[in-house]
This record gives sequence, C-alpha cells and structure tokens, in this order.
Amino acid sequence: MPTLNVHFLPGQVAETKLAGSTVVVIDTLRATSTICQALASGATCVMPFLEVEESRRAAERFARNEILLGGERHGRKIEGFDLGNSPLEYMPEAIAGKRVLFTTTNGTRAMHHARHARRTLMGCLLNRAALVEALVDEPRVDILCAGTEGKETGEDILAAGAIVYSLVEADRPSSMSTVLNYRIDEGAHRALGIWHEALDAASDAGRSVEAQLELAMLETPGGRNLLAIGHDADIAACARLDSLDVVPELNRELNEIRPA
Ligand code: MLT
Repeated sequence: MPTLNVHFLPGQVAETKLAGSTVVVIDTLRATSTICQALASGATCVMPFLEVEESRRAAERFARNEILLGGERHGRKIEGFDLGNSPLEYMPEAIAGKRVLFTTTNGTRAMHHARHARRTLMGCLLNRAALVEALVDEPRVDILCAGTEGKETGEDILAAGAIVYSLVEADRPSSMSTVLNYRIDEGAHRALGIWHEALDAASDAGRSVEAQLELAMLETPGGRNLLAIGHDADIAACARLDSLDVVPELNRELNEIRPA
C-alpha cells in the first residue's frame, strides 16, 4: 500500500527520512504558487537559491537578457532584483522565455531540506489537481510544508489537506478511475481534518471554496505578513484552487525547476 505523510515544517522531519520519497514542497504564500505561475506563464525554468548572493553570482553565467532575478526578503523585492515574490508579477508578458533565478526565505529552504528525495515537486492550491494526477503511481509521498518564520502556517496545511483529500477521498481528476488506498500518517489526518473544516465552513456560509480559502488565508501567519506589506491581492491570487495545469519538478543536478 502506498504511504502518504504530511510534515507541517521542515524541522519536523529529518532530511535523511525523506530519502527515496517523492516530496511535494508547499509554500502556498507564496514561493510555490509563484513558481507554478512562472512556469504556467512560459518561463523556461526556475533556478532556486538559498542566498541572495548565490543568485547574483549565478546570474553572471547567463546573458542578462535571458534571465530574471526574482524573490523576496521580509516579503519584499530584493534590491537590484527584477521581480519580487508575487505570482501576479510572473505573467507571460514579463516572464515568457526567461530563466528565473529565484530565492525566498522559507520556500527555497524547504526545497533544500528535501535534497535526499527521489523526486521534488512543487505544490500549492493552484496546481492541486495536476499534482494529484502526477502522484498517482508514486509508492511514497511526503508533503513538506515550508511554514513561516519557523512556525506552522495555516495556508500550507490547507493546501496539504486539499491534496490529501483529493488523493484519498474525492475531487479526483477524471483520468483517475481507480480508488487509491494509502497508509496515511498523523499529519495527513490532521491536514485532512482542516480541509474538511474549510469545506464545511464554505458550505455553511454559502460561499465558494475559493472565497473560503481566501478568507481563511487572511488570518494565517503567512497571510497576515502579506497584509502588513500591502500584498493583499496575492492572497486571492494564491487561492485559485486547481487553476494551473502545471507540476513543477526540481532537477537537482541542473538546479532547474521545470514542468514534470
Ligand atoms: C517564503 O519563501 O518565505 C515565502 O514565499 C515568503 C513570501 O512570499 O513573502
């Protein structure tokens, strides 16, 4: 039976424990949402870096008009970079045909934490359906939430819950005809419970699931950080469940994220 685990923070699972697994890194607000948007908008690839200086040094290897430097520190665009970490900046007119060199506070660190994984995929609410389809034949899946400032954050747990729900209960893509049975861990149970609460709250209030997600994310640590710096629109942009048909995968040898 395949196994499905959810870790609410990188610190909750040893790096070596992820060896051999297919890891889905989630940073709903906003790194993995932005990566999905960048690839859906036609970026040739996204190269993740832990440090700002590393990104700047890597940029020297490419012609300046081939690349864009993107990412954030304290949520804001980094000095001298072309783009911040808002998915709304990563639209085709800005990004098509470009290689994006990308560094964020928590998201790129979570990717690094998964460096022993067999595969590293990027997940969020935007690409939930596409991702679930890509996970169907995987014998072991670990969902790794990036968190915010070293703490669990509700928006990552909601995205994890949405993925677990789709894999084990409902909302399966139409191409998945078989019912899958997973051995799921305590974290996956908890994420699933939180997703059910969101679905129930939406139905009790007569709201769409997306509207409910947006509302919930206004109250999470990641959401509050964005509100504090005036990035309210990013919360709605990251709540568009199942809207992007892309599954970003990190090739560690090349340090490139491209569609799987
Ligand atoms: C991160 O990687 O820490 C986040 O994506 C933060 C942000 O979007 O500001």
